[in-house]
Parts: sequence; C-alpha cells; structure tokens
Amino acid sequence: MNFSITKKFRDKQKNQRGVVLWFTGLSGAGKTTIANELDQLLIANKNHSYILDGDIVRAGLSSDLFFNKKDREENLRRIKYVAQMFCDAGIISIVTFISPFTADRKKARDLLGEYYIEVFIKTSLEIAEKRDPKGLYKRARNGEIKNFTGIDSPYEEPENPELIVDTEKQSSAECALAIFKYLKIKKFVN
Ligand code: ADX
Repeated sequence: MNFSITKKFRDKQKNQRGVVLWFTGLSGAGKTTIANELDQLLIANKNHSYILDGDIVRAGLSSDLFFNKKDREENLRRIKYVAQMFCDAGIISIVTFISPFTADRKKARDLLGEYYIEVFIKTSLEIAEKRDPKGLYKRARNGEIKNFTGIDSPYEEPENPELIVDTEKQSSAECALAIFKYLKIKKFVN
C-alpha cells in the first residue's frame, strides 16, 4: 500500500526534516544526558523530537533479550525499524544505545540511508568506569554481570561517524549544542 500522506508532507507540516541521530558509545559515556539536553534544544526551537532510549527499550520492547552478540543484534534490528517509522513520521529521533558492533550500526545506516546520522559519544573506558553512574562497571569487574561492554564484551569504535563529541573535553550542554548546529547546517532544522 502506498499511503497518501508522505514523509515529505509530514516533514513540511512540522517545518523540519525527520532524521535519526544514532548515538553510540560506552555505558556511562553520556548518551542519555546529551540526548536529554538536545531534546530540550530542539523543542525550544519548535521542532518535534523524541528519544528512543536504550534503557527504556530494554525494559519493554526488548525485555526478552540479553547482552550476548546475537541479542544485541536483535535489539538494534528492532530499534532501527522503529527509528525508520519515526523518521517517516517526520520526527527527529535520538537513539541512545551502546550499539557496540560496527556490523549492526552498518545495517542501520544501510536501512536509513541519508537519514542516518551517527554520533560517536566518545569517552575513554577509564572515565566511563570512574563515573559508573549505575554501579554496573563495578558489578562487571566482580563478575556479577557477564558480557559487559568494555569489560568482557568489545566496543568497536565508529570509523566514519558523521559527528564525534568528546564528553571528557566538553560539557553535555556543549555536546548537545554541537549536534544541534550540525542539524541546522544540514538543514534538518531551521
Ligand atoms: S546494546 O549493546 O544492545 O546497544 P543497550 O544500549 O540496549 O545495549 O543497553 C545498554 C544498557 O543496559 C547499559 O546502559 C546498562 O545500563 C545496561 N546493561 C546491563 N547489562 C549490560 C551489559 N552486559 N553490557 C552493557 N550494558 C548492560
């Protein structure tokens, strides 16, 4: 079925271009914090945005999944289709999953094409582990949690992200502003 209302129409209605900001980075890198700041910037600019958050999706849509490679792949497979629907609806979605594997990110990029913007939320393992906001690194080091990204499961750094924000050098507000400016330059927002 070719629906009558197109993405172009919905974009125009919202005075923006729906797009997917695909954040990737270690647990504790600042993905959710920056997403929250960016969301507020967008709403203040009269845009229509929404955060597709890793922890929320893990608690609901993906509550049947664990953290082995296959389940992470399935988690991101689901979310890339959800993000595609948000994009088609003309919404600017901010996707905050660790997404540690290059192959899984590539699949999202292949599906979303020009509407996929990869944002590397960069922080060293050392600093993420020091921050340890949820106490999960400590538990992973104790062996209470298996397959923890950065400890006993790899994080493959993005090779060609559209954007890199370094949360060791910049505040979360500065990182959010840099992403917002990128959206302006690329004319996703006015
Ligand atoms: S992903 O690899 O599939 O992209 P996702 O972002 O959904 O991961 O989930 C990561 C969140 O789940 C972390 O922020 C953390 O709160 C929690 N978590 C629980 N166990 C693990 C684990 N083994 N590895 C990474 N994160 C974990």
